[in-house]
Amino acid sequence: MANILVTGGAGFLGAHLARNLVSVGHRVTAIDDLSGGFMDNVDSRCKFIKADVSDHKKITMIFQKHKFEYIFHLAAYAAEGLSHFIKRFNYINNLIGSVNLINEAVKNNVKCFVFTSSAAVYGNNPAPMCENMVPCPEDSYGIAKHAVEAELEISRRMFGLPYIIFRPHNVYGEYQNIGDKYRNVIGIFMNQLMQDKPMTVFGDGNQTRAFSYISDVIPAIAGSITMPEMYNQIFNIGGDKVYTINQLADAAAKAFNTRAVIKNFPARNEVRHVFCDHSKIRKFFPVEQTVLLEEGIRKMADWAKKVGARRSKVFKCIEIKKNLPTSWKNT
Ligand SMILES: NC(=O)c1ccc[n+]([C@@H]2O[C@H](COP(=O)([O-])OP(=O)(O)OC[C@H]3O[C@@H](n4cnc5c(N)ncnc54)[C@H](O)[C@@H]3O)[C@@H](O)[C@H]2O)c1
Repeated sequence: MANILVTGGAGFLGAHLARNLVSVGHRVTAIDDLSGGFMDNVDSRCKFIKADVSDHKKITMIFQKHKFEYIFHLAAYAAEGLSHFIKRFNYINNLIGSVNLINEAVKNNVKCFVFTSSAAVYGNNPAPMCENMVPCPEDSYGIAKHAVEAELEISRRMFGLPYIIFRPHNVYGEYQNIGDKYRNVIGIFMNQLMQDKPMTVFGDGNQTRAFSYISDVIPAIAGSITMPEMYNQIFNIGGDKVYTINQLADAAAKAFNTRAVIKNFPARNEVRHVFCDHSKIRKFFPVEQTVLLEEGIRKMADWAKKVGARRSKVFKCIEIKKNLPTSWKNT
C-alpha cells in the first residue's frame, strides 16, 4: 500500500478522495489551509497537516519528512468567475502553489502526480469538449489550470515525472462548501433555499452545464494511479446529461419541497454551454453516469439540511473592482 499526499484534503473532492484511498488501505496525509475546507470533512484515518501549498519552505519540509510516493493535488480556490478580479491571488494560490508541489515531486521521485485541472481550460471551444482540443481558457482560473497542465508535461519530458490530469466539471454532493457565494451553484441554491431566500441566477438561466455527482467521479480519480496505461494523459471526467441553470433551480427547490423562486442578475462574462466528451475515461472506467441529477440533489439536500445554512464569506482582497458583478459587491 502506498504513501499518498492529498492536497485540499479538507475540501469537497479531496475529502471524498482521501476517504476512498484510506478505505483501500493506503497511508494518506491530507494537507489543507482550511481557507475553503472544513476539519469535519477529514476522515480520522488520515493524517492532517494544516499548510498552505504556496508556502514553499513548509511544503519542502513536509516532503522531506514524509517521502510521499503519489500526490493528488486538489488544493485550489476554484472561484472561476471571481478569478478575473483576484488575478494575483489566483496565480499565487493555484499556479505557484502547484509549482511548489511539482518541484518537490521531481526532487523526491514521486511515482505519479495526479492533478485536478478543470473543463475551464476549454473556454469557448464548442461542446462537447474533447481532450484533443486546443485549450483556450476564458478566465484567470482556467489559465492557471492550463499552465499547471503544461508544467506537468514539461516536467515529465525534462525530469521523467509521470502525471495524470483530470478535467472535472460541476461536481456536487455532500461536504461541498455551500457557504461560498462565488462558486458551487448547487451549494449556493441550497444555502439560499434553507434561508428562504430567492435563488440568484446570472443572466437568463438558459446557460447549460452537465453536473456530476461525487460518487461518479471519485473512484476513477482514486483508481487511476494503479493503471500505468493512464499515465501522462488528460481525461475529462463527469456527467453527460445537460441541464439549464433554470432546470437545476427547479430540481434544487423540489428537494426542499418548495417551488423555485429566482432572482436574475445581469449575465456574467462566462462560457454559455459546457459539457464534455467522456469516451476516453470510459475506456478505463466503463461505468456510465449512475447518479442522475434529481437523485444526487436529493442526497446532497439531505446532508445540507443536517449541516444547516452557512453564512457566506466575503472575499476581502478583491484586486480589481471594475466590472465586478453588483451582487458580489459588499454583501
Ligand atoms: N468541484 C468541481 O466541480 C470542480 C470542477 C473542476 C475542477 N475542480 C478542481 O478540483 C479541486 C477540488 O475542488 P473542490 O470542489 O473540492 O473545492 P474545495 O474548495 O471544496 O476544495 C479545495 C480545498 O483546497 C484548500 N485550499 C485552497 N487553497 C489552498 C492552499 N493554498 N493551500 C492548501 N489548501 C488550499 C481549501 O481549503 C479547500 O479545502 C480544485 O483544484 C478544483 O479546481 C473542481
